[in-house]
Order: sequence, then C-alpha cells, then structure tokens
Amino acid sequence: MPDLDYSALTRVGPETPMGRLLRRYWIPAAMTEEVQRAAPVRVRLLGERLVAYRGDDGRVGLVGEFCPHRRASLSYARNEGNGLRCLYHGWKICLSGEIAEMPAEPPDTPLKRSVRAVAYPTREAGGIVWSYLGPRDKQPPFPRFPWLDLDPTHLLPVKMYQACNYLQGVEGDFDPVHANFLHQDFDVGADESWRGGGWHSMQSLMNDPSPRIVCERTPYGMRSAAIRKMPDPALKFVRTYETVAPFYSFIPSGPHESQLFKAWHPIDDVSCFTFYVHYDPRRPLDREAIWQNWGHRTAPPDYATRFTVANHHLQSREEMSRNYSGIPGAAIQDLALQESMGPITDRSQETLGTSDLAVAYLRRLLLRSIEDNEAGRALPGHDAAVDYDLRGVSMVIPADRPWQEARRLQEDHEREPA
Ligand code: FES
Ligand SMILES: [Fe+2]
Repeated sequence: MPDLDYSALTRVGPETPMGRLLRRYWIPAAMTEEVQRAAPVRVRLLGERLVAYRGDDGRVGLVGEFCPHRRASLSYARNEGNGLRCLYHGWKICLSGEIAEMPAEPPDTPLKRSVRAVAYPTREAGGIVWSYLGPRDKQPPFPRFPWLDLDPTHLLPVKMYQACNYLQGVEGDFDPVHANFLHQDFDVGADESWRGGGWHSMQSLMNDPSPRIVCERTPYGMRSAAIRKMPDPALKFVRTYETVAPFYSFIPSGPHESQLFKAWHPIDDVSCFTFYVHYDPRRPLDREAIWQNWGHRTAPPDYATRFTVANHHLQSREEMSRNYSGIPGAAIQDLALQESMGPITDRSQETLGTSDLAVAYLRRLLLRSIEDNEAGRALPGHDAAVDYDLRGVSMVIPADRPWQEARRLQEDHEREPA
C-alpha cells in the first residue's frame, strides 16, 4: 500500500477540507445537563467559539460567542425569552441568528435586516445536544441511533476531555488488538477483570492476540470484525464494529451485556471531548459499576479527569505487577496512550501492520469522503433511507459460520431462556 498523507484528516477548522467534511454531519455540542435556563455556556467546537443556551420554549440555541455589534462575549449575555441580550449595548440575538432588537439604533435601521449572528441548528436526544455546523441547504437527516429514545435509567452518556487531536481518539475505536494489551486487566484486581461492567465476553479475547481483521463498506460508513481463534478449533470469537460516518462507533459487547456507542467532539486541532454512551435496552444500567470499570466519571464544566500528561496519568509501577498498564480504568488507559502520542501525532513516522487494517480502512474512507465532499458528491450516511438499527457484537460462534452471522446468532442466544 503506498504511503498516504493523512495530515489533512487532523485539521478541523472551517477553512480546511476535513473541517468542511465534519460540518456535513450532526456532532455532539454539549451535554443536556450543561445547558440550563439561566446561564449561556461557552462551547468550542471544530475550532469555532460558540455559546449554547436554553430559551423559554426549552429549545437550545447555539450562536457565535461574539456579538455581531462590537464583539462582546455573549457568555455574559442576559437570557431573555428565546434570545440572548448582549450586555454591552442591548442587541437581542434570536436562536435563528436574527437580531430582534437594536435598542440604541433608530427604529427603522436597515441593520436589522442586513446583520445576522452566527447560529447553528440543534437537536437534543439521548442526554446530548447535537449540532450541525454545515451549509443550511445541505443539512442531512438526523441519524436515529437506536439508543436515543431509551429511558434515562437505561442510558449513561459520559463526556470526557482529551488533550489531543480527535483522530488519535477515534482510531482507538478502530483498533481491536489494543484490548489484548492495554486493557488486559480491565480494572485493577485481576480476579475482578471485566466483571463490574458486565463485559464477561471480553475474556475470550485473551485466547488470541493476533485476530484476523476484515472491513467492508456500508451505506452509513463501514463495518469491521476481529476474528479470533478459540482453544476449541470448532469455535471462533467474533467481535464486530459498526462505524457511522464521520466517526461514530458501536463497540462490540457480548450477550446480555450493556452496549457502548462512542462519539466525538473535536474542540480544535489539539483537543477533543470523547462521549461514551453506555446503554441497555433490556434493563437499567448499574452506573456505579460502569464508572468504576471505565474510570471516566467526570463533571461539568470541564469534564476533565485527574489523569493528565503532566502527572504521567498517575501510572503506578507497583500496580503493574497486577495490572498490565498500571493505570486504572479502560477509558483512562485509552486516554493515557492516545495523549502520550502528543497533541497531533506525525503519521508519516508510523509503521502500520496487518493488525492496523481497520485504522487504515477508516483513514481511506475519510480521505475518500473529503474528496467526495469537495466535489459535491454524495456522502456516507446522508441517504434518508439509512437504517441505524446497529450494534457491535461479541460472540463465540461455530468456526464454519460466516462472521456476518454473529449478530443474528448473538440475538438468537439472547432470546433463549436463561
Ligand atoms: S457589543 Fe453587543 S450590543 Fe454592542
Ligand atoms: Fe481501548
């Protein structure tokens, strides 16, 4: 495979090809819990400075942070009805970006018609405020992910700050092999490995650190699978990943286990938020166990953990006799290694192997999507007929069955009486 230049994939500003591609999709802008009636909250997304606020009618507005008059920050504004009133000279900016009032101007001022604030549409679903930062006339359908309408007791969205380019994080979701190493002990305490979060199926992973990886295109992005040998040659262990453009993933989970969806929010080129959405359509989640196992319990306003590059992610050499990484919690283990690469890793210096097949496939899909977007061609996931009834599965199946049958076999198994 010729070396490709991946550097374009890491730049997210409005004037960049990747920035333009990401602006063709709905992206998490904030947690619902952050956007209260009282105070507008600052949002940095794709290099843009914005504020989010909740109007009287409950809708969330997302507007440029700086007032179009003389650029005072609207994070100080009064939240009045369904608009923000700038504190400096009283301009009132609506959800749509229209300027409803300019009280210091003459009543018939033409400025009201000619000036508009930056304003983006939002949708609220699954505990997350989603936004679309692209051209108005090209707004795609909102992706109806299957977890969006679950009862809040069945759903745990988690937002976590990460001090590196978003793509380093995304690529971790496409890297089936790292779990054999980095996450070898899901949490400190080998006896308890994988148990608290109920992900028992992960244990089968340790039988084979060198899975066969396969990828295929789908109407919404890509599907990949890691296929591992089992001690019994009549069986194989299949883990499938469903990937929705531009960077969402359904991570594999086994029969009767809670499920996981991953989403991203590039803040700028060198920092991002990762969103974990844990969910279980069948039963309420054990939230404490999930926070414990993943280590990602965070809180507003910054959603940062105490694990940083500056403190070497509190890695404990002592713990490494019991825990492979010396870092507690799978989410923190990912955070540590992805941040350890630096703010934007230099992909021209990498050595990709066959175990990186899904990562390489994703990069090519994104490069192709950039080209298609620049040329005005159709993009993955934009057809209104796309079916988002997806899940990532993690299932031991007979060795002679195709991996594509893993989901059906897992769901058949789940329907059997326990
Ligand atoms: S700067 Fe906002 S009204 Fe003047
Ligand atoms: Fe991981």
